[in-house]
Amino acid sequence: MEEFRPEENRYVIDQESSVEMARLMELDILTTKCMGSLFPADIDLSLVHDVLDVACGPGGWVSEVAFAHPEKRIVGADISHAMLSYARAYADVQGLKNTTFYYRSATEPLDFPANSFDFVNSRLMVGFMWKEAWPKYIQECARIIRPGGTIRLTESDCASGLSAGNSVALSWINRMLVRAFCRTGRSFCADEDGYQVGVTPMLPKFLREAGFQDIRERPHLLNFSAGTEVHQRMMKNLQVGLKLVQPFLLKTGVTTEEEVEKYYQQAMTDSMSEDFQAAWYFTSVYGVRGEK
Ligand SMILES: C[S@@+](CC[C@H](N)C(=O)[O-])C[C@H]1O[C@@H](n2cnc3c(N)ncnc32)[C@H](O)[C@@H]1O
Repeated sequence: MEEFRPEENRYVIDQESSVEMARLMELDILTTKCMGSLFPADIDLSLVHDVLDVACGPGGWVSEVAFAHPEKRIVGADISHAMLSYARAYADVQGLKNTTFYYRSATEPLDFPANSFDFVNSRLMVGFMWKEAWPKYIQECARIIRPGGTIRLTESDCASGLSAGNSVALSWINRMLVRAFCRTGRSFCADEDGYQVGVTPMLPKFLREAGFQDIRERPHLLNFSAGTEVHQRMMKNLQVGLKLVQPFLLKTGVTTEEEVEKYYQQAMTDSMSEDFQAAWYFTSVYGVRGEK
């Protein structure tokens, strides 16, 4: 089994893959719609001028915010050259002059001046963050956010996009992913046989420790059972995502090629049944930067 070291800083899927990029564009639409709005409904947007989205992927959220709020300056950051290049081109064709994109890693000091943003957003970083990286990242955000500014982290404890459902095969894939996350230092819960990685309950504590106040948590639920409006789109997304993640599962030694393919095919078959029931839960945690 190949050993992973925290400083290797790897996303579980090839971040330069164009298929992954297309998948993330689609996932952005599903996720943002499920969250109900681009920003938390209970913050004062008139105080938000400079916005940063870390691990922005192909820039779906950045572009939507830039379009809806032409008076705000929106910055996207990621380490994928392919995603950054697409994000810039996508913003360009829409004539969004208020966006910029930079190569920045969330697992290293963020090369932005102190007090330069009013809102820092990040969503679904669980696929590349080592557990030690979370508090450091949040402290970095505290440095670059102005007093009174907001940080929002939106994460899932189920790396596969399945939190609950009646497909044994899909549930098995989720468990293997959790095991692989445990083995590579990404999980806060050492239970290799568990179904979740325990990231979201840690976030309020990390926010408090970094000096954030008025911390709030908002759960989101995406039910993608057969017959729901999002069933086909979410399953297409999982069809791609769960295929692209297979090399990571094999590398961590949690399964074999034959085994993972068998469960993958079964999961896809299960998802076409009229009885298929599945849901994905994820959570936003946000807080306000106090005086420094
Ligand atoms: C699951 S996607 C999330 C995309 C976007 N935030 C969203 O919710 O639609 C994860 C993203 O993290 C990026 N990534 C991987 N490692 C990173 C790192 N160390 N720092 C910043 N971004 C990273 C990947 O390139 C990918 O775009």
